[in-house]
Amino acid sequence: MAIALLVLAAGQGTRMNSDLPKVLHRLGAAPLVAHALAAGRALDPERVVVVAGHGAEAVSKAVAKLDPDAQIALQGEQLGTGHAVAQALPLLTGFEGRVIVLYGDTPFIRPETLEALSESPADVTVLGFEAADPGRYGRLIARGRDLDRIVEFKDATDKERAITLCNSGVIACDAALLADLVGGLSNDNAAGEYYLTDIVAAARARGLSAEVVTCPEAETLGINTRAELARAEALFQTRARAEALENGVTMVDPATVYFALDTYLGRDVVIGPHVVFGPDVTIESGAEIAAFCHLEGCHISRGATVGPFARLRPGAELAEDVHIGNFVEVKNSILGEGVKVGHLTYLGDADVGEGTNIGAGTVTCNYDGVFKHRTTIGANAFIGSDTMLVAPVTVGDGALTASGSTITEDVPAGAVALGRAKQVTKPGLAVKLFEMLRAKKAAIKKGA
Ligand code: UD1
Ligand code: CA
Repeated sequence: MAIALLVLAAGQGTRMNSDLPKVLHRLGAAPLVAHALAAGRALDPERVVVVAGHGAEAVSKAVAKLDPDAQIALQGEQLGTGHAVAQALPLLTGFEGRVIVLYGDTPFIRPETLEALSESPADVTVLGFEAADPGRYGRLIARGRDLDRIVEFKDATDKERAITLCNSGVIACDAALLADLVGGLSNDNAAGEYYLTDIVAAARARGLSAEVVTCPEAETLGINTRAELARAEALFQTRARAEALENGVTMVDPATVYFALDTYLGRDVVIGPHVVFGPDVTIESGAEIAAFCHLEGCHISRGATVGPFARLRPGAELAEDVHIGNFVEVKNSILGEGVKVGHLTYLGDADVGEGTNIGAGTVTCNYDGVFKHRTTIGANAFIGSDTMLVAPVTVGDGALTASGSTITEDVPAGAVALGRAKQVTKPGLAVKLFEMLRAKKAAIKKGA
C-alpha cells in the first residue's frame, strides 16, 4: 500500500527556551526531525510532507537537506494538531493510500512500529502506549484493540484520567478519509484547538473502525525541554553503542564513544576510547580508530588506521591502508591507498596519490584569505617534515620536498624541491653571544 508521511513540526517548543525551532535541536548530531524522517523512510513513502510554522524558513532548509523530495506545508498559526494536518492536505491531493502522521519532536519511534501501524486494517489506527506516568497525555478510550475515542487530558473526567493507555500522537488513516474527517473538526474544547485526535470519534460515529496498536513507552518519548533532550541523547547513545557492538564493532570503552544518527561502521572496526562521530561517517570493515579522535563527513576504507588524536572533517576520503597519526587534521582531501600522514599535519583541499609519505608538520596552505586552493601530490612522493605547500600547487609522482621547504611552485615527477634559505654556520659565535648576554644581566642586577 502507498504511504505518505506527514510530520508535524510547527510548534514553538516554548519550554526549550531557545531561538532555534525545537525540531532543529540536535540529537545524535542530527536535527530532531531527521529521526522521525529516518524512521518514516523505512516505509518507502511515496510522499513526505513536513508541517512547519515556528522558524519555518530554517526548518524548510534543514528538511530540504535531509530529504530533497520532502514538501513543506506552512502553518502560520498553531491552532492544533488537526489544523496542522489540514494545512498539509493540499500537498496530498492525488495521493491514494495511507497517511501516517508523526511528530517531529518524537525521535525514537522504530520503523518496525510504523510498519505494524501501517499494516493495521482499521480505518483509523492510533499508536498507543501504557504510560508509567500518564501525566497530560491524551487517553485512549478502548476495549481491547477497538478504539472508541481519544480524550485530551484537559477535557478528561477524573475517571478518564485514571486510564494509563495513552496516545503517542502517531496516527494512520486513509488519505481521502483523513481529509474528510479533518474537514469536520471543531475547536470546541478546553484548549480551543483543532484536535487531530477527534477524528477517532468522528470515524466511529460513521460506523468506521478504529484500532490501537501499542508500542513500548520508550519509543514515544517526546522532547519538550533541554533536560529531556539531554536524557534523549543519553538514550540515543546507549542504543547506538549496543547496536554497534551487536553489528561486530569492537569498543574498549563504549560509554565514551559518541555516535551520530547516520554513523555507519563495518564489521570488525575497532574504536578506542573517547571517539566522537559527527554526521555522515562511514568506516569500512577492519579499520581502526584509536583514542581521542573526532570524525565527521568522512569515509575510511578497509585497513586504515586513524589516531590517536586525529580530526577528520567533511570530505576526508581515506583509501585502503591509509595511516593517519596524532594531531593530524584532514579536510576535503582524497588520500590514495597506503598514504601515511603520521604527525602534526594539516591536509585541506588536497589530493594525495597512493603510497605517498607526508612528513611531520606538513601544512597545505589552502586559503589565501578569500579563495580556497587545491594541492595535488602524486603517487609515492615524499613530503619532507615541515613542508608548507602553498596552494594551488602540484607535486609530481615520486618527487621529494626537502624538510622545511615552502613550496610555491609545481614540482615535476621525480624531482627534489628545496624551498628554504641556505644554512650559514658561524663557529664559536654562540659562546661569545652567551657571554655577552650574561654580562649584561649581571650589570643590571648590580645597578638595581
Ligand atoms: C498531543 C495529542 C495527545 C498526545 C500527545 C503525545 C492532540 C490534540 N493531542 O498533545 O493526545 O498524547 O500529543 O505527545 O493531538 N503541532 C503543530 N501544529 C499545531 C500543534 C501542534 O505542528 O498547531 C505539532 C507540534 O510541533 C508537536 C506535535 O504537533 O510536534 C504535538 O503537539 P503538542 O502541542 O505537543 O501536542 P500535545 O498537546 O502534547
Ligand atoms: Ca507534546
